[in-house]
Amino acid sequence: MKVMKFAPMKEILKLAEEQKVAYGAFVTVSYETALAAIEAGSELNCPVIFITGTDCCDLMGGFEGTVETVKRAAANAQVPIALHLDHCRTYEECVQAIHAGYSSVMIDGSSLPFEENIALTKKVVDYAHTLGITVEGELGKLVGEEGNLVVKGPEGAQTDPQEAKEFVERTGVDCLAVSIGTQHGHYIAAPQLNIERLKAIQEVVEVPLVLHGGSGTPIDQVQESIRHGIRKINVATDVLTAVADSFEELKKQPGFKYNTAMFVNSKNAAKELIKGKMKDFRFEK
Ligand code: 13P
Repeated sequence: MKVMKFAPMKEILKLAEEQKVAYGAFVTVSYETALAAIEAGSELNCPVIFITGTDCCDLMGGFEGTVETVKRAAANAQVPIALHLDHCRTYEECVQAIHAGYSSVMIDGSSLPFEENIALTKKVVDYAHTLGITVEGELGKLVGEEGNLVVKGPEGAQTDPQEAKEFVERTGVDCLAVSIGTQHGHYIAAPQLNIERLKAIQEVVEVPLVLHGGSGTPIDQVQESIRHGIRKINVATDVLTAVADSFEELKKQPGFKYNTAMFVNSKNAAKELIKGKMKDFRFEK
């Protein structure tokens, strides 16, 4: 296996900023889902960012297993690939992921009071930056579920622009996840992104902005958010849905057999979904 190193996510986001596009950050839970995104990125010459929460890592053998799984899938990739720890709530786990080989971590102190979020985020930044690792912070809460945290109710939880400015300046984060009306998981009611709030954040915040809850968000709204500074878009539910649906569709076909081709088919379904997102986020037809 060729020894590859994950790219710092910061560099990928810098590229996105220069090109005024966003790059998708796709969930991986297995070798096949990693391969799906790597094949998609390779075919479209598009950098790939992987997001893995600790629940995803558990499925791949912890942080080390995840690093090995993604490296193996990426062995022949010609595009930059970043491996990012998603929604981590502790300093200790961020450090473990970094030692295992991650190139980027998200420390999510968004459920904490403002000053505590700053203190925790800055502690991770101070350590990660000595090793060239990218750090994402979060301010404001996404409606829906993030692990054990369940947030209800819309606008009150969204990111405050002045707080965002202060947060970025005091912590030194490389990018900031903002809450502007998206939600994790499947939408029950259609989202209405708060683009005016995003514009106000973009005016005062110097770092690239991140949109979580990319699944199911109408593409015109997503592209409008990219025009106003969103440079990374997290997509999990749509990838997992493509995988689940592929099995159901296959089972309806005449002559269906339970065999390994099922997994090739699901990898290809995830790949097509990811290619579509990559094109949308780069405004390509
Ligand atoms: P979705 O599952 O809604 O795509 O959200 C993913 C996400 O934001 C992970 O951090």
